[in-house]
Amino acid sequence: MTQSNHPLEKWQTPAIKDRNQRITERPKALEINALEKSFEHKGKTNKVLDGIDFTAYKREFVCVVGPSGCGKSTLARLIAGLETKEAGEIYVENKAVVEPGPDRGMVFQSYSLFPWMSVKENVMFGLTQSGMSKNSAETEALQWIDLVGLEKFSEAYPHQLSGGMKQRVAIIRALANQPKVLLMDEPFAALDPQNRLRMQQYLLEIWQNIDITIFFITHDLDEAIYLADRILVLDANPGRVHEVVNVPLPRPREEDTMLSPEFMATKEYLESLVHPPQPELDFEEKLSMVRLVPVNAEVPDIF
Ligand SMILES: Nc1ncnc2c1ncn2[C@@H]1O[C@H](COP(=O)(O)OP(=O)(O)OP(=O)(O)O)[C@@H](O)[C@H]1O
Ligand SMILES: [Mg+2]
Repeated sequence: MTQSNHPLEKWQTPAIKDRNQRITERPKALEINALEKSFEHKGKTNKVLDGIDFTAYKREFVCVVGPSGCGKSTLARLIAGLETKEAGEIYVENKAVVEPGPDRGMVFQSYSLFPWMSVKENVMFGLTQSGMSKNSAETEALQWIDLVGLEKFSEAYPHQLSGGMKQRVAIIRALANQPKVLLMDEPFAALDPQNRLRMQQYLLEIWQNIDITIFFITHDLDEAIYLADRILVLDANPGRVHEVVNVPLPRPREEDTMLSPEFMATKEYLESLVHPPQPELDFEEKLSMVRLVPVNAEVPDIF
């Protein structure tokens, strides 16, 4: 598809194009070259990621979408250094990834806090691990906790917090270690819609104020459009880059951004990429194949 007949071209205003251009002129924060990954399953090799190329620039917000099983989590785990790659390269600020390191922070869907530690101890953990004194770590942890409005809960334990509060702690615990790239794998998927929106707004506010590049995996297209500068769309079996979509929305993003025609157009386009139209199901035919309880004639028909 050429640039001029791309379905989103009409929304790519000069200001949006200029912004995207300036992002790609920044230094590279994350570079993925010809990345390959397979898993063995029951004696068969299953190619999960097949030749992934992608670059995220400093302070960019990238979202990743794609069908279930296309390898999004595997990609995040490879970047985190938690999986070994089969071929290709990953660099974070020009340093090759070979193992987990403090330059990458991770926040998962499942709350990854240590349940036996208080909020404050959870946030202090990485700081003391990297050699900070207990006193300084405590002062710094309390500042982070204050930033996300959890000062009354610094001595609480994870089981005493709501889902949204736990994720706020998980985010600041990752950020306190000053990573260059924050990897987030469906971090808000378990939250109800209202809390989810609040967390998205929190995250945008934090991101706008600190030097961090965010690589955010989600199934929720609204979430991806609302948050991202660019959206990496992956195909499944094997996972490949289908397209990198420039989100044609200015910043800052407000709640009613989601009602704008450019938002709707982006969503419709992404839906066509991620959930291509399915052939019509022959419902009557399929119905005749399952075992059903016949309609009781005594119950009045309401259809
Ligand atoms: N440790 C493993 N061993 C074997 N196969 C694995 C392993 N981890 C992932 N896979 C397989 O790799 C494929 C991609 O999995 P992955 O979890 O990365 O997908 P995903 O895109 O994150 O899916 P979802 O959207 O459902 O979270 C799947 O087929 C999965 O079964
Ligand atoms: Mg996943």
